[in-house]
Amino acid sequence: AGRSHTSEAPPRARIVVLGSANMDLAAYTRVAPARGETVTGESFRTVAGGKGANQAIAAARAGGSVCFVGAVGEDDFGPRLRAALDGAGVGTGPLRTVPGPSGIAHIVVDGEGHNAIVVVPGANGTVTGLADGDEDVIAAAGALLLQLELPLDGVLAGARAAHRHGVRTVLTPAPARPLPDGLLAVTDLLVPNEHEAAALSGRSDPRAAARVLLEAVPEVVVTLGAAGCLYAARGREPLAVPALPAKAVDTTAAGDTFVGALAVALGEGRPTARALEWATAASALSVEREGASSSMPVRAEIDARAA
Ligand code: ADP
Ligand code: NA
Repeated sequence: AGRSHTSEAPPRARIVVLGSANMDLAAYTRVAPARGETVTGESFRTVAGGKGANQAIAAARAGGSVCFVGAVGEDDFGPRLRAALDGAGVGTGPLRTVPGPSGIAHIVVDGEGHNAIVVVPGANGTVTGLADGDEDVIAAAGALLLQLELPLDGVLAGARAAHRHGVRTVLTPAPARPLPDGLLAVTDLLVPNEHEAAALSGRSDPRAAARVLLEAVPEVVVTLGAAGCLYAARGREPLAVPALPAKAVDTTAAGDTFVGALAVALGEGRPTARALEWATAASALSVEREGASSSMPVRAEIDARAA
């Protein structure tokens, strides 16, 4: 194939994710068991998940140069989580293996698609700060992606290290929980979904929520599910980006796919509006397929959908 003279390959976005890796243990059953009850389910599968690992895999599949900082346990799941990240092209040099179990998410999905989930943090709970070398890894990145599935001391340590080195911090405030003092002061881009935005701002209207959040961070993207997203930055008119039409079969990790792709596009220097459209295409693709990390699109698929 001939090389295009008009579209030079952009420099690869360099992304570090500091976050959780969980083994998702998903049981599918027509009716979920009530307390004290045993039911026979239809199927079971184990897949690598956790918001940190999902964002890392999404960014790598979207074409980023991605490195993962976190912890897995000494159980059988540890090597499988590491292999899932490696297999997606995510660098796992800074991923430590610690005594005890890996993080798990125990998920029961009923016949109506509703789920009930127990997350046991396991090894993720040991990430209360940065290990030797982590700060150098962060300093070499263009962006650090953070979520709230690690101990908040660990999240804060990562964000502060990034801030010290002028590395852009992108925080997904999920699962919704009160933020530690000072975290938003070292957050450059906050990406809540509409529920998280409401919880953080006390405003249910996304535009009002974004206005409140802009008092604490310079840029906000509120994701709105099938309604797309709203981008807001200080001193600019808010920008609404509609979702692409999609036959949604599984919206698990739509937000993580969005954030991973957005970080790649921004890291390549694309204008914000174009980056948002590209991330919107990536997440539309992810909702059309079953699964979390397995449903995340690769770069060529995103390009085709965004065109
Ligand atoms: P989260 O998974 O964090 O709750 P959202 O549900 O807001 O995140 O979804 C993130 C993004 O995924 C949205 O901004 C949108 O672009 C895309 N998306 C989500 N649901 C759909 C859908 N049903 N159809 C098309 N795109 C969707
Ligand atoms: Na999400």
